[in-house]
Amino acid sequence: MEKIVIHGGSPLVGTIGISGMKNAALPIIMGCVLVKDECIIENLPEIHDVTVSLQILEAMGVKIRMIDRNTVAIDATHAQCGSSPLGLVNTIRASYYLMGAELGRFGRSRVGYPGGCDFGVRPIDQHLKGFRALGATADIVGGYVDASTEDGLKGSHIFFDLVSVGATINVMLAACMAEGFTEIENAAKEPHVVDLANFLNACGADIKGAGTDTIRINGVPSLHGCTYAIIPDMIEAGTYMIAAAATHGDLTITDVIPKHLDCVSAKLREMGVTVEEGDDWVRVSLDRELKPTNVKTMPYPGYPTDMQPQISILMCLAKGTSTLRESVFDNRFRYIDELLRMGANVKVDGKTAIFQGGGLTAARVRAVDLRAGAAMVIAGLAVAGRTEIDNIHLIERGYDHLIEKLQAVGAMIAKMDVKESVTILQAE
Ligand code: EPZ
Repeated sequence: MEKIVIHGGSPLVGTIGISGMKNAALPIIMGCVLVKDECIIENLPEIHDVTVSLQILEAMGVKIRMIDRNTVAIDATHAQCGSSPLGLVNTIRASYYLMGAELGRFGRSRVGYPGGCDFGVRPIDQHLKGFRALGATADIVGGYVDASTEDGLKGSHIFFDLVSVGATINVMLAACMAEGFTEIENAAKEPHVVDLANFLNACGADIKGAGTDTIRINGVPSLHGCTYAIIPDMIEAGTYMIAAAATHGDLTITDVIPKHLDCVSAKLREMGVTVEEGDDWVRVSLDRELKPTNVKTMPYPGYPTDMQPQISILMCLAKGTSTLRESVFDNRFRYIDELLRMGANVKVDGKTAIFQGGGLTAARVRAVDLRAGAAMVIAGLAVAGRTEIDNIHLIERGYDHLIEKLQAVGAMIAKMDVKESVTILQAE
């Protein structure tokens, strides 16, 4: 078992490059199952969830060839339907994109019920609603999702009851080779939904409107291989933006699409943070007191739920009252207990956390999920003293070379075995 050890209190200064987006890479990797040809995927992040996704495909008979650390050739010509290994499938959420991909390619699908971060109940009823609208039967039986159609999927009109990234992506995957026209209303508008649509269109699909709340798909008989580069990870970028603010640093974050970060940048500016933008970079600095603010997480382009734990650290550091409302998931405040260990002055009332600010103290804490783990890193960097973070495998699911990237901008941070107790970092 390993932990992260941080000697915090120093400003982060310098430049950090952003990797490919986890939540775009995963559906695109699974989407390759639709294609009886070779696809070359570039700008892949080196993260655990990508490794697991490629292992799942390999177990299904898909040919995987790493061209370099961020480029993979995926040839699903001989993929076998229903052969994804449950032991891997139930460790990540994105495995459920196999449902749409198998249904779209084979007209049937059998995939284990997905895993993923624990934010309370995470149903998949909208996914099943979409598959059924396309003419498939779709049921959860014995820990698996079984879907099938006798005479092929037929285009349909689907109006989602709520905005769901996963369901939007899954129905796009299933519908792109369905017979006829499909219209998805109340669709998610996240950049990674657009990225998947662009990938599928590069393979010969006919998808319009991705990025709006209405997506129109004309089914095509087959897809062909392509070469496609994943968009930059806006959540990784936002995480480092907040780390710059939390440490009163000055970070230039490169290889980003600033437009994707508009809501995060606006919130940081409200708190007194300086955010400058270029074509493919943002520069974040703070040379004054943080101001309190109020945030409500919303589907894109609103404030991202995946940036919710990170901004809570700034709310702990700012003097005054801030409120943080989680409106996307049932319960994404499990990490607040870890903030209390660090002396945070915060109360949770249902889906709203109320912060009185006033600072944090270094402590031994743990990552309760991927983004909460990143928030603990930010907290450790922000406060003087030694912070230790356990459960760091959760962080490594979604952050590419986090420690190396932070060390390069002055962070006193390292990974060590839990049993080691030597002081790994020299005193300042
Ligand atoms: C994706 O999860 C992301 N995961 C999450 O990122 C992200 O937080 C979320 O989208 C929202 O942006 C991946 O892309 C692998 P949803 P997903 O379907 O698809 C409810 C991270 O840190 N819902 O948009 O599961 C659901 O319970 C991870 O990278 C239904 O009720 O999110 C939630 O309350 C964490 N029925 C809300 O909708 C359904 O059929 C939004 O979920 C589907 C969803």
